[in-house]
Amino acid sequence: MKKVFITRMLPQENMEELHRHFDVSVNPHDRPLTRDELKNGIKDCDAAITLLTDTIDGEILDAAGHKLKIVANYAVGYNNFDLKAATMRGVILTNTPGVLDDATADLSFALLLAVARRVVEADLYLRNSKWKTGWAPTFFVGLDVTGKTLGIAGLGRIGKNLARKACGFDMRILYSDMHRDEEFERQTAARHVSKETLLKESDFLSLHVPLLPETRHYIGETELALMKRTAVLINASRGPVVDEKALVKALKERRIWGAGLDVFENEPALEPGLAELDNVVIVPHIASATVVTRRAMGEIAIGNVIEVLNGRSPDTCVNPDVLQK
Ligand code: GLV
Ligand code: GLV
Repeated sequence: MKKVFITRMLPQENMEELHRHFDVSVNPHDRPLTRDELKNGIKDCDAAITLLTDTIDGEILDAAGHKLKIVANYAVGYNNFDLKAATMRGVILTNTPGVLDDATADLSFALLLAVARRVVEADLYLRNSKWKTGWAPTFFVGLDVTGKTLGIAGLGRIGKNLARKACGFDMRILYSDMHRDEEFERQTAARHVSKETLLKESDFLSLHVPLLPETRHYIGETELALMKRTAVLINASRGPVVDEKALVKALKERRIWGAGLDVFENEPALEPGLAELDNVVIVPHIASATVVTRRAMGEIAIGNVIEVLNGRSPDTCVNPDVLQK
């Protein structure tokens, strides 16, 4: 049986499937592995299934040895992979696109609504027995969502999915991306705009770019200064896409209305001051966390491992140059 290393326990159905096909070893801890643990675990394996918390670079691939054929990320994002290092060594890398678009867009919209209508702040108020005054005209007033402008930064599958959902709230859609998508524009009446226009005109700005050197701190002090004072920033992409220090400062000074964050620059740590702000809603990187989605992500990752270890090409390779070799 081929040997497969899993860097963290997957949902039960996925684990059962893996045990049917492979000699499986799993991280025994409920935490990410250290570099040394990862090197020891992956040694002499034919395949590995990894998470966004595992940096897979040349050093790890060398520790694995020559048998390693594939590293399948249990995530759509793959900024934790060194693509060049893997291609050089003939190792196939894959991700799990498509199956988490709904879950991620849903969570982005949940954050958007929660910030606009101050849901978490109001919930805490009530739980802490502070509600003494009864219904009042100026109590917990928030922002309208229906009919407002939603800016999408990065028009990939998730950005498009969110835009389509927002059409149900009669939102006007603006998007910024390297590519124009006229079909999408026809479907949603969206407008392709520059980053500057996106920042200036959006009531809600949701980030859906991958983390690349060019998108690190895509939102920083300069960008925050261009946004409306009543704007809300939503991030369910990758933490380093936002300069978290600059964001905390802008939120503290009420230069924007609020933010809804699923991801952070130094997970699991938060920028000091962030958790004390009442104009943010923060959740711990859970955008794809639904029962069905997490199972489906596992099925894709496992399917890719099966394909590659049987000498076939996987569906969702992220370093396709390696397949030409
Ligand atoms: C989660 O963040 C993913 O990239 O799948
Ligand atoms: C609010 O509850 C209203 O009836 O306006």
